[in-house]
Amino acid sequence: TEAAASAAEKAKMSAVVEVPTIEGSDPETDPLDAFKNVLAAQLSKLVDVDIKILYDALEAPRASENGHIALSVPRLRLKGNPSAAAADIVEKFQLNDYVLLAKADGPFVNFFLNHIKLAQSLFKKIYDTKERWGCNNHGQNKKIIVEFSSPNIAKPFHAGHLRSTIIGSFVRNILDANGFNTMSMNYLGDWGKQYGLLAVGFERYGSEEKLLEDPIKHLFDVYVKINQDAKENDDVHDEARAYFKKMEGGDKAALSIWSRFRDLSIVKYKDIYARLNIAFDVYSGESQVTDGMERALKMLHEKNLLTESDGALIIDLTKYKLGICVVQKKDGTTLYITRDIGAALERYEKYGFEHMYYIVASQQDLHLKQLFKILELLGFDWAKKVTHLNFGMVGGMSTRKGTVVFLEDILEETRDAMHEVMKKNEHKYAQIEDPLQVADNIGISAIMIQDASARRVKNYDFDWKRMFSFEGDTGPYLQYAHARLCSIERKTEMEVNPNADLRHLGDSKAAGDLITMIARYPQIVRETTRSFEPVNIVGYAMKLSHNVSQALESMYVMGAEKELAEARLFMYWSARMTLGNAMRLLNLKPQERM
Ligand code: ARG
Repeated sequence: TEAAASAAEKAKMSAVVEVPTIEGSDPETDPLDAFKNVLAAQLSKLVDVDIKILYDALEAPRASENGHIALSVPRLRLKGNPSAAAADIVEKFQLNDYVLLAKADGPFVNFFLNHIKLAQSLFKKIYDTKERWGCNNHGQNKKIIVEFSSPNIAKPFHAGHLRSTIIGSFVRNILDANGFNTMSMNYLGDWGKQYGLLAVGFERYGSEEKLLEDPIKHLFDVYVKINQDAKENDDVHDEARAYFKKMEGGDKAALSIWSRFRDLSIVKYKDIYARLNIAFDVYSGESQVTDGMERALKMLHEKNLLTESDGALIIDLTKYKLGICVVQKKDGTTLYITRDIGAALERYEKYGFEHMYYIVASQQDLHLKQLFKILELLGFDWAKKVTHLNFGMVGGMSTRKGTVVFLEDILEETRDAMHEVMKKNEHKYAQIEDPLQVADNIGISAIMIQDASARRVKNYDFDWKRMFSFEGDTGPYLQYAHARLCSIERKTEMEVNPNADLRHLGDSKAAGDLITMIARYPQIVRETTRSFEPVNIVGYAMKLSHNVSQALESMYVMGAEKELAEARLFMYWSARMTLGNAMRLLNLKPQERM
C-alpha cells in the first residue's frame, strides 16, 4: 500500500490524465478498459502513433510475472528496433496512479497496474451489475436468429444434435451478453417421405396410450418396426410415398395425425431441454415451411437457374464446385434443401433478422454452402447475413445399454455416475439437500465442459472417466471452485460490504493476479463474438479458478480481523460473481454446495 500511496502522490503532481474513449473500447462497462484508455492516451504523448493503434497493441501478458498489461511494440510498426523502442518508452514513461511500474522485456513493455485502484472501480461495478456484469450493449438490440439442436422426430437424438444444442445455446448466450436481441429456434426434422412411413407404421403398430406416455420413444419404436417391414416389402415404400404426397397436398386427415405426433414430441422435448437449462423461443421445423418454397422455385425458374432432369428439378452448382442440387423430385415432392430455401426466405420476411446462425455439424458443410449460394443466386441482399457455425464429431457416446438413442438416456446415466462419485465423500454428501438434483446439474456440467474444451471443429471422444474428474479442466472442477467460494461467504456469516476498504488487500502478487483476471472478463465476452468458441470462456473460467485457489492459499477471510476480512470477502465475492457469470454463459447452473 505504501507503493500505491506514493504512486498516487506522483500522479497528482503529473498532469491529470483524462479518461478518453477510444473507438471499440468500453470503459463504461469495463473498468480495466478505462485503465487501458488512460495508458494509451499517455503513450500517445510519447510515441507518434495513433491512439487507437496503441490501444489495440495493449495485450494480456503471456505470464503473470510480466505484469498486467503488455504493450506489443512490433504492433506499432515503428521505424527501427522494437526492443530499443520499448526501452525508450520505459525511460520516458511517467508512473502514475494507474500504473505503478513499467518494464521493458524485449519488444514488449510490461505494465504493472495499481491493482487496488483497479479493484475499487471493478468490484463496485460488479456489485452494481451482478448477473449483468460483463455484458455490454454493442449489439444495440439487433435481431439475431440462432437455429440449433433441430433433432428429427421419431429418430435418434444423436451426438451431433447434442453438440448443436450445447454450442447453439452458448452462441445465443454470448450474443445476449453483447446486447443483441436473440431468438432461439429449433428447426425440427419433421417432414419428408420418412414421415409418411411413420404414419403408415402408426396405423399398424401405434398405441394411443404409449404415444401419450412417451411420444419420443414410442414413435421411434414404431419407426424402427415399419422400417423393418419396408425392407422386406417394397409396397410399404409406395404406401409411405403416397402418404407423404397426401401430406404435401394438404390432406386434412393426414396432416392432423402428423401434427399430433409433432405437438406431443415437442411437449416432451421441452422437458428435456429444461433439464439442460435451455428454452426455445420458436419451435419451427421442416413441416412449417409454407409457400416460401414455391415462391423460391418460381424465382429460380425466372432466373433460369432450374433445369429439368429426368422429371426432377435441379440447380447446377458445379461452377461453384458445389455439385448439383435436386430441389424437386419426379413426383413433385420437395427435399431437405428445398425446405431450407423456403424456411430462410420466410424467416427473413417474418423476423427481418440482422443475422442468422445455423449451428449444424460439419457433415452438413456442403448442404449449407449450397443453401447459401442459392440464396445469393436468388439475389437476396440478406444472403450475406447468414452464417454456418459448424463443429466436429463426437465418438464413443454410448451408455451401458449400448449406443445412445435418446438424450434422456445419456442424462440419466450421467446423473447416476455423478451420484456415485458424490457418495464417496460421505461427510459432504450428508450436507446436500437434494443430492440427485445436484448430481444431475454437475453431471450435465461435465458433459457441457467436455464439449466446450476444445475448438468447435475438433472431433473428440466421449470420456466418462475424465469428464467426471474433479481435477483437471472439467465441469465438476468449475462447479467445485464455485461452491468453494460460496462456502467462504457462508462460513464467515458476513454480508458483502461494498464500501470495504480495499487498500487492505495489499500488494501481494496473488491479489494483483486475481483482480486483473476478474477484470479481463468483459473483454473476453466481447471477443468471443468473433470466434463463437466456447473454449475461450472455458479457458478463462479455469484460469480464474486457479487464481482463486492461489489467493486462498495466503489470503484467508476466516480468522482475519474485520476490515481485512471485509476487503478479502469483497474480492472473493467478486470472483464468485464473475465465475458464476462465465459458467452461466456456458449454460451451467453454478452450484452453491456440492
Ligand atoms: N434436422 C437436421 C438433422 O438432424 C438438422 C437441421 C439443421 N438445420 C437446417 N436448417 N438444415 O440433420
